[in-house]
Amino acid sequence: MTDALKLGFGPFTAPAKGVLVVFCDDSLKFGPATAKALGSANGLVARAAKAEHFTGKSGSSLDLIVPEGLKVVRLTVVGVGKVSELTPKDFLKLGGIAMGKVPASAADGAVFAELPGGAMKPDQVADLAQGAKLRAYKFDRYKTKRKDDDHSVKSRAVTIATGDSSGARRAFEARDGIADGVLMARDLVNEPANVLYPDEFARRTLALKKVGVAVEVLDVKAMKKLGMNALLGVGQGSSHDSRMVVMRWNGGKKNDAPVAFIGKGVCFDTGGISIKPASGMEDMKGDMAGAACVVGLMHALAARKAKVNAVGLIGCVENMPDGNAQRPGDIVTSMSGQTIEIINTDAEGRLVLADVLWYAAKRFKPKFMIDLATLTGAIIVALGQEYAGMFTNNDELSHRLHLSGEATGELVWRMPLNPVYDKMLDSKFADMKHTGGSRWGGAITAAQFIQRFVADKTPWVHLDIAGTGFDSRMSDINKSWGSGWGVRLLDKLVADYYEK
Ligand code: BES
Ligand code: MN
Ligand code: ZN
Repeated sequence: MTDALKLGFGPFTAPAKGVLVVFCDDSLKFGPATAKALGSANGLVARAAKAEHFTGKSGSSLDLIVPEGLKVVRLTVVGVGKVSELTPKDFLKLGGIAMGKVPASAADGAVFAELPGGAMKPDQVADLAQGAKLRAYKFDRYKTKRKDDDHSVKSRAVTIATGDSSGARRAFEARDGIADGVLMARDLVNEPANVLYPDEFARRTLALKKVGVAVEVLDVKAMKKLGMNALLGVGQGSSHDSRMVVMRWNGGKKNDAPVAFIGKGVCFDTGGISIKPASGMEDMKGDMAGAACVVGLMHALAARKAKVNAVGLIGCVENMPDGNAQRPGDIVTSMSGQTIEIINTDAEGRLVLADVLWYAAKRFKPKFMIDLATLTGAIIVALGQEYAGMFTNNDELSHRLHLSGEATGELVWRMPLNPVYDKMLDSKFADMKHTGGSRWGGAITAAQFIQRFVADKTPWVHLDIAGTGFDSRMSDINKSWGSGWGVRLLDKLVADYYEK
């Protein structure tokens, strides 16, 4: 929730009761306006730097409390390393670091957007601001007791000081929308499953209408009619009915084929009859991180009025083990007509994707489709929490996503798809089983299964985000359990390659 942060751009004034953040390079050099603003405190900073062995290397910082000669309560100097080497990703990080120096107890903050070489460009200021916004996010709606360090301050106003406020404001508009998309995704992932069940998830996507996204919600009856029995089988053991949501943003040319994004929205994954062990099961409220990313992405694209036609589809179900639940050995007929023998009811995500992917390709004939799913523990074994696993039938998409990953810091690593794995999916009774029967190559057999539901050779990417969607590595721009991973990655992909 971000309502506690007021982020603005304006001329420099040191906040009287607040925190001032300034930047220096790795020779401890400030920009001319910063040096002037520090005035007599310049000497103090030099002495403190020496005492603390602060050298201004990228990401390091130096704090001075009630610095003599300045009105502020705290002055923080953040090192940027070598100015000539700074990339957009670095400005995001610096914004995050700066925001981290403005504690919740501070009334105001000012971040002096100047580098040793001089004023930052509007794009750089805007990146800094986006980093600050992402960093400031905190999911605390269920904390009724105020934290000790909260004192009486309810909201923080942080000013990014720049000589070109209107330029920065203009450059920030799109980034603000993208950041809102990330925060929306984080909120959805962080919500507990007693609050966010499939119908409630669908209801929350209706908020996208405000930014011009068309939203359709399909209920169980509608999905039955379409023959989506693979998806419906997963949800049948829950007292919460399944839903599919179709979101459309038409910012491109009228008859241009859309790009499509598909998300696994398992609101809670108990494993079903093949029930999971108790330890850590609470994390499975985040098993809808793929769907959350798709919703956040649709918001981002619409908010910044992306010149693209995009569709987002999410399959929302709850995987529970009641008397009506699906059993191992059951055989379901998917929308594609292919029959599936259920082996382990904990491999539910691929069943949801099977029907939603088939539907997406048939209905929209998209340029490409990308699915995101917290699909397998095996991908965490393979890649840890830094990279998402990428499986694709298309080299160009693979290359482009790789570059978008490097640019945004949301990294993807390509994994193999190959028919040699197919025999692991052979079933005695149906067209196929849905798990490989052994744990070896578990992320690959899952992808191999999903590929069978990609209709008409549609260019397709599967991103296994089990390691990155939640409980992943904290960073300077994310302190939240639900990371909102993928929104910035896919927004960048669209912006760089699919907008005319
Ligand atoms: N949602 C889980 C995968 C998961 C595990 C995501 C840990 C995030 C953190 C998925 O539905 C699942 O249970 N996968 C099984 C598949 C197996 C039964 C073939 C797994 O990975 O163990
Ligand atoms: Mn599962
Ligand atoms: Zn799952």
